[in-house]
Amino acid sequence: MAHKFDHKKMSKLDSPQRRLEIPPLKILEVLGLTKGNIVADVGCGIGYFSIPAANIAGDAAIVYALDISQEMLDEVEKKSVELGISNIRTIKTSEYELTLDDCSVDFIIMSLVLHEVENKIKMMDEITRILKAGGIFSMIEWEEQPGASGPPSQERISFKEISALLSEKGYCDINKYVISENFYGVTARKL
Ligand SMILES: C[S@@+](CC[C@H](N)C(=O)[O-])C[C@H]1O[C@@H](n2cnc3c(N)ncnc32)[C@H](O)[C@@H]1O
Repeated sequence: MAHKFDHKKMSKLDSPQRRLEIPPLKILEVLGLTKGNIVADVGCGIGYFSIPAANIAGDAAIVYALDISQEMLDEVEKKSVELGISNIRTIKTSEYELTLDDCSVDFIIMSLVLHEVENKIKMMDEITRILKAGGIFSMIEWEEQPGASGPPSQERISFKEISALLSEKGYCDINKYVISENFYGVTARKL
């Protein structure tokens, strides 16, 4: 069974060190998020990406912040109120059901989630279902080589593995981005 992030450790998801290593606004721009995009942040945690995504997408757009943990979603709600952000909708999902309509989002960000999911094929089917044709799927994962922190090597996903899965699901323009020594990003476009 894949290990799930414990919501009691949510403070670990925001720190000056993390903001330096994974600057969320800059990364979303590099991954291709643009103004007006309808966004799904799958496994949003405390909203580390949902909040900057809401700023980039703008008030006329919506960011769906999806997570299986109600505690995480409560934190996103709290932060949205504090920051006066009105275009984030939190939704509690279940493991392989993202609940959004078919072909309803332009851009998906899934950061440090896929390695927590046992059946990656089933999750990618669900991702593909909610993404519009021509939409961008983006993800961030731990580099294959374990460092001082992060999951053990057997739980990590290589770019080769994710790239094969995306090709099998019919994605094109599959690219890898170096984020830091510990993390890489991926983008792919749904045909
Ligand atoms: C390591 S945290 C990353 C949070 C956030 N994406 C970030 O980078 O700060 C992983 C999050 O994914 C959520 N999660 C795990 N499996 C999920 C699933 N099948 N569907 C939705 N969320 C999931 C967990 O509850 C947790 O909030």
